[in-house]
Parts: sequence; C-alpha cells; structure tokens
Amino acid sequence: MKILVIGSGGREHALVWKLAQSSLVTRMWCAPGNAGVGEERLVKNGALVECVAVSAEDLPALLALAHRERPDFTVVGPDNPLAGGVVDLFQANGFKIWGPNKQAAQFEASKAFSQDFMQRHGIPTAQSGTFIEPTGAKQFCASLGGRCVVKADGLALGKGVLICTTLAQAEAAVDEIMVSKAFGSAGQCVVIQELLEGIEISLHALCDGKVAKLFPTSQDHKRALDGDIGLNTGGMGTYSPAPFLSDAELTSVGDAILQPWLRGCVADGIDFRGLLYPGVMLTKSGPKVLEFNARFGDPETQVYLTRLQNDLVELLLASSEGRLVNHQLRWSENASVCVVMASGGYPGSYPKGKVISGLLEANALPNTKVFHAGTISKDGQTVTNGGRVLGVTAWAKDLTNARNAAYEAVEKIHFDGTHFRRDIAKKGLQR
Ligand code: AMP
Ligand code: GLY
Repeated sequence: MKILVIGSGGREHALVWKLAQSSLVTRMWCAPGNAGVGEERLVKNGALVECVAVSAEDLPALLALAHRERPDFTVVGPDNPLAGGVVDLFQANGFKIWGPNKQAAQFEASKAFSQDFMQRHGIPTAQSGTFIEPTGAKQFCASLGGRCVVKADGLALGKGVLICTTLAQAEAAVDEIMVSKAFGSAGQCVVIQELLEGIEISLHALCDGKVAKLFPTSQDHKRALDGDIGLNTGGMGTYSPAPFLSDAELTSVGDAILQPWLRGCVADGIDFRGLLYPGVMLTKSGPKVLEFNARFGDPETQVYLTRLQNDLVELLLASSEGRLVNHQLRWSENASVCVVMASGGYPGSYPKGKVISGLLEANALPNTKVFHAGTISKDGQTVTNGGRVLGVTAWAKDLTNARNAAYEAVEKIHFDGTHFRRDIAKKGLQR
C-alpha cells in the first residue's frame, strides 16, 4: 500500500515513523516532511520515505501530487488543510484520505461553532459567550469580573487566546482581537470563557463517525518557560500517561465528553472520521472542555505513538471506513516523555539554519527517538528550520526513568541558541 502523509512537524514525523512500521506499507511520501522524515525507512522493504516539496497548505498542489503518484491512502497531520477542505477535495477526486471533512473540522476551525455545539449538546465546558462586536463582549467580561479568557474564533496558530485576570486586561484583549485585528479575520468573532482553574490535560479519541476510542491521558506544557511562565507556544513537551486520573476516572471523564459529543454529531449530521483532541481542565466542579482540536496534538503524538502497539495504518483505515468498533487500542505499560528543543527566541522571532549535532548519539540511546519538527538537510548536515526544532522522546517502565532518558538524550544534542524546558513531566512526578 502506498501512503501520502501531509505535514512537516514533529507530529508528522511521529506519524510517518509509526506508519512506516506497518507491514502493509510499500511506499511512502511526505509533503513536505523534514530532515528526520526523509531518513525513515519502511519496515516492509527498507525503502526511504520520500519528502516532496509541496506545502501542506497548497491544496491544488497536493491534489496534483496525488494524481501523479496515486497513493492508496493519505493521512493529514495539521489543522489548516483540514479546515480548508483537503479531505473533501481528495474524496471528490476518488482518493482515500484520513481526517475530518471540512464540516467536521469546524470543531477546531471555529471556537464559536464548538462552544455552541457543546452548549446545545450538554458537554461540560466553561461558562461562555460569543460576540461579533466589542461592546457586548466587554459587558460579558465585566459580568465575569474580568477573570476570563478571550479567544479569536478562527485558526490563529494557537495564538489567539488571551488569558485575563482583570477587566482592564479583558477589555484590552477584546480590542486587540476585534479592533486592532491582531489575528486578522480569525478575530471577527470572539468566544469569551470564564477563567477555569485546575489541572489541564489532553485527551485524544480516534473516531469513525459512530464510535470514539479514547486514548490514555497526556499532558502538554504550553508555556515557553519552566514553571509554566512565559509566552504560550505550540507545546514545549509532553508525557503520557498523566497520573491525575485513575483508569476508572478517565473512562468516566471520556464518557461525559464523548457520549454527548457523538450523539450531537449524529443529531447535527456531522460525520467526524479522524482524531478528536479535547483540551480539558480538571476543575473542582468536574472536567470541563476548553476547546476541541480536530487532529493529533503536537507534541502529544510523539508520546502516544511511542506507546501505541496497534498497526496505525489499520487503525486509520478503520477510522476512515467506519470500522473502528472491531478494533481495540493497545498501549504499552511504559511511560513516554517528549522534550521539545526550540530555536532561541521561539515563540517570538528566531534564526534558522543552525547546524544540529549529536542526533546520531541521541538516537543510539535505548528506547529513545528524536522526532524532527523544524529541520532541513543542507549540504549533508541537519540544520534548524523552525521554532520547534526537535521532539526528543524516550520511554521506560515509569515516568521517572522515561524523563531521565529523555533529558539524557537532550544533553547529547546541540545547536546555537537552543532552549528547552527542564521541568517536563515534573507535575506528573510530584503527584
Ligand atoms: P485553547 O487554544 O482554547 O486550548 O487555549 C489555549 C490555552 O489557554 C489552553 O491550553 C489553556 O491553557 C488556556 N485556556 C483556554 N481556555 C481557558 C479557560 N477557560 N480557563 C483557563 N485557561 C484556559
Ligand atoms: N499540544 C498542542 C496542540 O497540538 O495544539
């Protein structure tokens, strides 16, 4: 079977790495991929994965690539092509593809859509309001005493979420999004939520339109700096499992979210075949959904796929064909930890083209995998090419050992200006 993977980040490297382990796969392309993706080999025949210089956002070029190479199955990593309708486009042209269609991808592409859906279908979430003009928005912030989170409705590279603790901050946030249009058209509408307190975890569920199969827990670290301070990022590190819920509690939290979500999808005629990733706050008054994403998390994928024991090709085919009911997800007992090594300056501006050393030494460590995100090959060297550069991932029988192994690998890797958090998984250990 020939597979095309769309995307270029750490999530996509992890997807390629896991898909390449399937004995079903005889050829694989990644558009556009990265330096690490281009070094992966298929277990079946030893062939290298081929990176193709087509942007994940260029839908016509992706379709042209599919017409040229005729993949049997395409796997979509990032949110933008999903929101742009890449699944609908491929299907209309007779190509089998995994991911939610444009209508279903609205769970991530529009926070107003998700919030309205959650309220109508009884999914536990924050108290919230949706506004298309600033006056009403500010009144609502005032009704929450200024302790609120102001969110641009649309996709804003994970940046259109402003956390406020005073009314002055909240009013400034509304102005930034709606008046100054700091996030462009994504801010034509805002969703304002009460500020929730608690432990934040990531849930993932693989869906096929009828059933949703819940993953174990994981936890991301969204702030740039140790101790959860600094700017919000795409995610600086993850670990799984996150020991804040017992298995029974996880099942009941999953049911409280996924059962009404599935019923709501049926009632609203939404056929969601893909990965639902709810961001959840465990509050004193129970779990509450902060947002839905309609794709694998990054860097959650790196820790999940180093624990998943199933053949991922079989699972994603079953998800796209409505056959998930026959599959049981199997997870290793190991804990897995991913530490993101970022470029100096990230999430602000940062240089590119820094030579990365120590990758072979790090990858040679047992139970360790260095997933690439922002890297390219240049003159035989691997150089930095993005904000999040590497997701250094290790697994072991418990969280302490997995964490030590991940940091041991990080110590082997060098590039100018690198920064990474030193407290990934610490909250889990303090538990
Ligand atoms: P989102 O993109 O909506 O998940 O928001 C990004 C981050 O902002 C989340 O990962 C949370 O850490 C934080 N956040 C979002 N909504 C809330 C909320 N209602 N209360 C507290 N923190 C929030
Ligand atoms: N883990 C953050 C994200 O994927 O949005």
